[in-house]
Amino acid sequence: MLVDQLKIVQADAFTLYLKAHFYHWNIEGPNFPQYHDFLQNFYEDVFASVDTFAELIRTLDTYAPGTLSRFKALTTIDESDTVPDAMTMIGNLQNENNSMLITLLKAYEMADAETEIGIANFLQDRIQSHEKHGWMLRSILK
Ligand SMILES: [Fe+2]
Repeated sequence: MLVDQLKIVQADAFTLYLKAHFYHWNIEGPNFPQYHDFLQNFYEDVFASVDTFAELIRTLDTYAPGTLSRFKALTTIDESDTVPDAMTMIGNLQNENNSMLITLLKAYEMADAETEIGIANFLQDRIQSHEKHGWMLRSILK
């Protein structure tokens, strides 16, 4: 069901947001100011989407998840306590951003099949945003 997939989308967005914020705090290296700012732009964009996903879930007359344990159970994003070097952090975020895109695409296909135009429209916007994040993350890794 679309609403179940949207809960996974919300959990993925929250977990990806938290990972990017975690790296924003702990990243190190000669390009620290750029990485620190880049990660802030990234986590702010992803965090802003979490609220809209929760409100879309409410629009479908279901309660939105909002606890760490529930997000952890739902998410496809890998969580890790370690503080790796800067390039590993960016590589991890690129992988997680790809996972987020797969989750979004599944939700989009379901919204499209169920003629939920408004939800499909927001999912399209988020797919475009995460494709842009993917381009930036890939460019840093080259
Ligand atoms: Fe900060």
